[in-house]
Amino acid sequence: MTQTAPVADQAPSGKPSFCDSDGPSQEAIAAFYDGMKPFWHPVLSEADLPEHKIVRVELLGIGIALARLNGQVVALRDLCRHFQARLSLGEVIDLDGLQHVMCPYHGWSYGSDGHCKRIPQLLEGRKIPPNARVDSYKVAIRYGLIWVCLDDEPKFDIPDYPEWGDDTFRTVVMKEEQPSKTSSIRMIMGTLDDTHFPWVHQGILGSRDEPAAPDHKVWREGQYLVLQYDVEQPPNLATTDMSAEGADKVEKIALRYTDYVGMPNVIRLVKDSDAGRYVVWLATCPSAYNRTTNFWAFSRNYDMNPGRDSIYEEFSAHVRSQDKPVIESQRPWLLPPFWTQIELPLGPADKPLMEFQRWLEELGIVSGI
Ligand code: FES
Ligand SMILES: [Fe+2]
Repeated sequence: MTQTAPVADQAPSGKPSFCDSDGPSQEAIAAFYDGMKPFWHPVLSEADLPEHKIVRVELLGIGIALARLNGQVVALRDLCRHFQARLSLGEVIDLDGLQHVMCPYHGWSYGSDGHCKRIPQLLEGRKIPPNARVDSYKVAIRYGLIWVCLDDEPKFDIPDYPEWGDDTFRTVVMKEEQPSKTSSIRMIMGTLDDTHFPWVHQGILGSRDEPAAPDHKVWREGQYLVLQYDVEQPPNLATTDMSAEGADKVEKIALRYTDYVGMPNVIRLVKDSDAGRYVVWLATCPSAYNRTTNFWAFSRNYDMNPGRDSIYEEFSAHVRSQDKPVIESQRPWLLPPFWTQIELPLGPADKPLMEFQRWLEELGIVSGI
């Protein structure tokens, strides 16, 4: 009896096959990490890094120890150069008037630049070996987050979020306790994609009676991929001032979306309607190829009462909870390159996603399965 492969194993003829339970090849993971390296990535809320604490985060499969040393946030490779214990299990100590990170195992202590400044077991008169150092990475603080770049030369700046800190807007931050089981690229695509609105967010962001895609205008502007389209949606907190009398009596609201993807890992959706402006902001941290830490914020310039923030948080959490299982179900984990034909994007409805992927491929971020 001849054995046939399960359907999931069968790719279009002549194309590479993958099994949907498999992870990507080591080469594909390495290429993804390499492609994502020269960009700023958010790794932690600033508020989650108190003085005298060391916090471990992961970025592109690398463990990083974050600490505040001498008034600056520093990011060090979370592996001691001695016997590779985690520095994040250690302590912040004072040494000659400067703060250092001390390894918990034998007390080697590192300064902000990653150089070891103290080896307790060193014989008197002996010098600290020059290679007793760990990598230290570029750090920036923006929008209440700590951002790290693993490369000395970031390709782009941290993308703009003009509504942040603007007191004509009310901004709420949503913290996801658990990372999403997906790649950051799929997370951004799931937020950029609008043709799923009638299916995943039926009655909130769309209606299955009107599944036609809007007329998408897509272009590049500096480091941004910009998408603009006009739609009508049911009244909800993101389209309407629901605190106004009779707001829920309206059947449909006309609005314009202008989406800015800060390549490759941040997206800002700007929704303009008669109510005003509502902004969804998502910065993704690619902790690993299959694990993404999401940092969300939502800004509005209507219904400014802070007492109503929790209603907006609940609304956003509900919409996100609708997306999550679907995005986490997508395989392969990493976006397959166009040439594999594993996915079948359909023009013109999927043009925004295709343009995003085209740019990712130019940046070397999508290169294998
Ligand atoms: S492993 Fe860190 S001091 Fe020995
Ligand atoms: Fe969605």
